[in-house]
Amino acid sequence: MTALTAAVRDRVISLAADELPAYVYDLAALREHAAAVRTALPEHVELYYAAKANPEPEILAALGPYVDGYEVASGGELAHVRKAVPGRPLAIGGPGKTPAEIASALELGVERFHVESVYELHMLAQLARRADAKAGVLLRFNLAVSDGSLADSSLAMGGRPTPFGLDPADADTVVRLLSDGTYPHLRLRGVHAHLASGLRAPEQLAVAESIVTWATELAARHRVRLAEVNVGGGMTVDYAAPDQRFDWTAYGAGLARLAAAHPALTLRIEPGRSLTAYCGWYATEVLDVKHSHGEEFAVVRGGTHHLRTPATKGHDQPCSVLPVDTWPHPWPRPAARQDRVTLTGQLCTPKDLLARHVPAPGLRAGDRVAFALAGAYAWNISHHDFLMHPRPGFHFLDRAGA
Ligand SMILES: Cc1ncc(COP(=O)(O)O)c(C=O)c1O
Repeated sequence: MTALTAAVRDRVISLAADELPAYVYDLAALREHAAAVRTALPEHVELYYAAKANPEPEILAALGPYVDGYEVASGGELAHVRKAVPGRPLAIGGPGKTPAEIASALELGVERFHVESVYELHMLAQLARRADAKAGVLLRFNLAVSDGSLADSSLAMGGRPTPFGLDPADADTVVRLLSDGTYPHLRLRGVHAHLASGLRAPEQLAVAESIVTWATELAARHRVRLAEVNVGGGMTVDYAAPDQRFDWTAYGAGLARLAAAHPALTLRIEPGRSLTAYCGWYATEVLDVKHSHGEEFAVVRGGTHHLRTPATKGHDQPCSVLPVDTWPHPWPRPAARQDRVTLTGQLCTPKDLLARHVPAPGLRAGDRVAFALAGAYAWNISHHDFLMHPRPGFHFLDRAGA
């Protein structure tokens, strides 16, 4: 079971049944966590937030004092983030950028383009010339990391054949194009690589070191100055052990050593999940409890169409049960007969599993359940319209619990 903050617990208990399910975000807890992350990092290492993890405007704004900028991955995210946190530095990434998305990023003065292919570089150059704009380029590479650091990742986007980033075999060609005057409207700022998600601090550090070493050698080969290396996000969130957070202190110390070895480089990271996962809960109530072929199931209001994370990642979403003693109906209240209960949603698919075999002895219809670690890749990656159930409420709690 995962501890709720007091503010979240109070809100979940105070909501009426028909106000559930609800996403409840503890913004004070988010600020506290982001401040701790920022403190663990060396001062000159830049921290961008990957908005794809959770782009709610309240979340983007709460992170504002602790981040140096935001990474966006589409024209939609770009327009949204620009509006939510005006004036903050932005980097635009993502494979398959359209000409319209690039044109709008140029128009909005986006500081950094993470270029993912040779074709995209040509397109950006032409569009920047047409707009008479100067575009800052970080070349995103899909680097091979040979020391096994990516082996434990939950989602590898690099180090193997994928559609992400430039192939290292194209590195010399693109750096030449950016340094021989072919593209006067493009300015090579540096290298970017986001190779995997779900890595612990030692593996993340090994990956960061590989990226920086590779980038430094590339720059030396071409006698160009690279000012920046973005080593990506992907710091792990352990859904099976929610209290064991990524070791930001060890990672920060390692980055400090790396930065000291490369004083002319600005290092940047762009985590998403590890910043916002912990501040969000998906709260709901048990609608029914039933026995099936020897196992107990509790069906809750809502399901994976609101919180798709356990279905996509194949884990059990950590949760807390909040017992409710009153039962407002004249019919009997169903209750679990066994100690362990599988929590499912209302969808007509056996894939609508939120958490399996949860220790919840005596769980009853009407009890509340709050699923933790629902602040990242939760609501915004879910298939909301399947079966047309009502959408959840959204509550952003601040220090005063408001
Ligand atoms: C380019 C890029 N940067 C950063 C991130 C954030 O990763 P995470 O949320 O695992 O930290 C992603 C996630 O897919 C990404 O694709």
